[in-house]
Amino acid sequence: MTMNRAAFLKSLGFSGSALWVLLTSCQRDTEVIPGPVTNGPVDFILDLLDPANAALRRGNGYVISNGVVVARTMHGSFVAATHICSHEKNQAVIFDDNTFVCTVHGARFDTTGKGLNSLGSRGLRVFKTALNGTALRVFS
Ligand code: FES
Repeated sequence: MTMNRAAFLKSLGFSGSALWVLLTSCQRDTEVIPGPVTNGPVDFILDLLDPANAALRRGNGYVISNGVVVARTMHGSFVAATHICSHEKNQAVIFDDNTFVCTVHGARFDTTGKGLNSLGSRGLRVFKTALNGTALRVFS
């Protein structure tokens, strides 16, 4: 038998305003928390010879892997940032014109994660990259 949260709290003896406080206080835990996202450690390797990573063989190309946007700049260097935008946490960050861009509302970030407009003011978590032959390591 399943029991919803309100029924469970009532079964424990909560009612009226006490029940309301408990129910609404728990809802606050699910609010969006501003700030950097993808807080866990990141460490993976992309094989540049893999056809799935072909976009990384040209400038301004990018792939999304393990929740990370991995890109090659116009100058040939590799950069990486979280796919989740710091504005409203949409998984919509891409790379275009040497800039990380969120396609939802237009937040923009430079390759160091610094916000370039008001929507990007919280910055974007970026990761390190290291190339060893054709193996590109992305790590925090
Ligand atoms: S969620 Fe990315 S700009 Fe709003």
